[in-house]
Amino acid sequence: MQPPVFLADHAAMLEIAMQQMLDARSNVVSERLLHAMRYSLLAGGKRVRPALLLECYRACGGPDDNLPRPAMLAIEAIHTYSLIHDDLPCMDNDDLRRGKPTCHRHFDEATAVLAADALQALAFELLATSEVDPVLRLELIRKLTIAAGCQGMVGGQMMDMQAENNKQTDLLTVERIHLHKTGALLCWSCEAGALLADANEAQLQACSRYGKAVGLLFQIADDILDATSSSEELGKSAGKDAAQNKATYVSLLGLQQAKELSGEMLELALVASTELGKGGNHLNILAQYIMDRSK
Ligand code: IPE
Ligand code: IPE
Ligand code: MG
Ligand code: MG
Ligand code: MG
Repeated sequence: MQPPVFLADHAAMLEIAMQQMLDARSNVVSERLLHAMRYSLLAGGKRVRPALLLECYRACGGPDDNLPRPAMLAIEAIHTYSLIHDDLPCMDNDDLRRGKPTCHRHFDEATAVLAADALQALAFELLATSEVDPVLRLELIRKLTIAAGCQGMVGGQMMDMQAENNKQTDLLTVERIHLHKTGALLCWSCEAGALLADANEAQLQACSRYGKAVGLLFQIADDILDATSSSEELGKSAGKDAAQNKATYVSLLGLQQAKELSGEMLELALVASTELGKGGNHLNILAQYIMDRSK
């Protein structure tokens, strides 16, 4: 499935905002560090997480697209940091990311580690300095510390590393890994959109359930693409999960059942987004795209 036009539009808007955000720091940040941050951040990802945030914001009646922008920048910064670290030799040891040499390959390991660290801290700076009601601002930061940290993405990455080469890993463990390493940041994006729109409880719960479903769906689709697509198409090295004996839905269930499961996750996502009424239409399309994307 081709990316929906609205996703490309949001990505274009986000990229201008990212350029401006980095340019504004050019006098106060070491040139090499900023160069590495820019290299990875502006390498052209799909920008799914910021799009989920904005579409949940709109679906919950958020009136002003400028309000969620710092949170959209923040989640893409955190996500990019997670990719830089994920690619390091001590983790997945990858050479290709977003169609270009990985950050540590293009620069060096120390620069890559530091650029990722800087992107992580920058995400919290962006949230902390945003023009959002201070109570809500703190809540978004609190939820992101949990989603990104030891109880979320980082915790999931640890479980992912420990499951490598472990034949004992069962389905429940793979679900836990995926919900943590990938699902937590996607779910934060959806909940943050709802919170920024001052959603009512039913809308917030719908976005939260949608976020959990697309979070798991996203990583199942990633595992399927790793096993079925090419490095040229993906812009990252294909076939790595099998080569590194990663615990994935494909390794545990096989391709066919993994695809069936992703269909079930899509259904759950659609039930949740339908509860948001007409405003949930773009979320339906995004969930479908997350399942049927080609990279
Ligand atoms: C890749 O994320 C890492 C996972 C969590 C599976 P994306 O597929 O969103 O990567 P980009 O941002 O488009 O490069
Ligand atoms: C990584 O999962 C999830 C992150 C937290 C970055 P993968 O290791 O499968 O991501 P890719 O396939 O390298 O993008
Ligand atoms: Mg990994
Ligand atoms: Mg990886
Ligand atoms: Mg992968």
